[in-house]
Amino acid sequence: MFETLEKAPPDAIFGLIEAYKKDPKPTKVNLTVGVYQDKEGATTIFRTVKLAEARLLEEEDTKSYLGIDGSPAYATAVQELVLGADHEVIASKRAVTAQTPGGTAALRVGAEFIKRVKPDTRIWMSDPTWPNHPQIFGAAGIEIETYPYFDSDTNGLAFDEMLAALKQIPAGDVVLLHGCCHNPTGDDPTPEQWGQIADVIEERGLLPFVDFAYQGLADGLREDATGILTLCRPGSEMLVASSFSKNFGLYNERVGALTLVTPSEEAAQAAISHVKKCIRANYSNPPSHGASIIITVLNDPKLRAQWEDEIQAMCDRINRVRRLFVETLAAKGVARDFSFIARQRGIFSYTGLTKEQAQALREKHSIYILDSGRINVAGMNEYNIDAICQAIAEVL
Ligand SMILES: Cc1ncc(COP(=O)(O)O)c(C=O)c1O
Repeated sequence: MFETLEKAPPDAIFGLIEAYKKDPKPTKVNLTVGVYQDKEGATTIFRTVKLAEARLLEEEDTKSYLGIDGSPAYATAVQELVLGADHEVIASKRAVTAQTPGGTAALRVGAEFIKRVKPDTRIWMSDPTWPNHPQIFGAAGIEIETYPYFDSDTNGLAFDEMLAALKQIPAGDVVLLHGCCHNPTGDDPTPEQWGQIADVIEERGLLPFVDFAYQGLADGLREDATGILTLCRPGSEMLVASSFSKNFGLYNERVGALTLVTPSEEAAQAAISHVKKCIRANYSNPPSHGASIIITVLNDPKLRAQWEDEIQAMCDRINRVRRLFVETLAAKGVARDFSFIARQRGIFSYTGLTKEQAQALREKHSIYILDSGRINVAGMNEYNIDAICQAIAEVL
């Protein structure tokens, strides 16, 4: 088995993180990794998470297994967070939710579910997308296609091309969409554009699968659900993969959820029975701790209000840094228009910098960005932004 085994290629992002760690320059900056960083450059634990954990330490009385699809209280809390507590989909019980180890497992379980119930279905994903998307769906044996998404001339959404491509997708196929904070570009559809996407999806009978890894980090918790709510029409179907890695800072607790919106309660029950088969043969049942934290926070009005303040502060900081970045580049005399960075949302942006410029930033200035030009906006702060912009001005 092992004598002739060659190494698999390293993960592109984690390879750069290694190079960053080895870089001895004290002024080095890491804009590659996908975690939120505060103004001190730290990825700290939410205060509300600490308070919930203290409560759990006192009150938790078992470490016995959860059910295959996790905690029912968690499922309710997730649906209410995603759709709003008074949504028709919840009242009519036509959605079901499985607790999963992170958003990644929500995507993978969703992929396994699709392969199980409709094996010939293809999935259409944006070009570009999070590099793990093709790996996850490919690993489940699903055929992958792409639709255009980004216009590198305008550094914005290639909306007309996207819509035209969606109109060509055969009925029954799955369309993967980013609920908000598109990774890697930072470009999201406007509410009007979401309406047009929802029209095409309905007309052509496509199944939207929404990756919702950044709820609360674009404009606000409710605002960020606009796309999903627009897709949720009477009798509509949809899959949503939620991640709580970013908006609760629970990266290493691995907490996420797969929600399946179906046309009826009966269909929802059939769907979850198949989802449970997929989970049982994979990791059997989900870990509990992260989800217990989320239930504790979301079901306690005081903790919930505090958490909403924490997430809004993160969101505001990201958007402030975006504006500061544009202003600082202009102040450095950079002629190129970077104003699109302030219009994009979430922790990532495509800067439009080339592979050669990204390499020069790393090699000459110890500023680590991906070859694609993607940066983690949250890695910038008032201490390093000047040096980052100076370096960009030089490589340009
Ligand atoms: C677009 C996107 N989807 C899903 C995830 C999954 O996150 P996790 O599995 O850590 O919850 C990420 C994390 O970086 C992401 O960027």
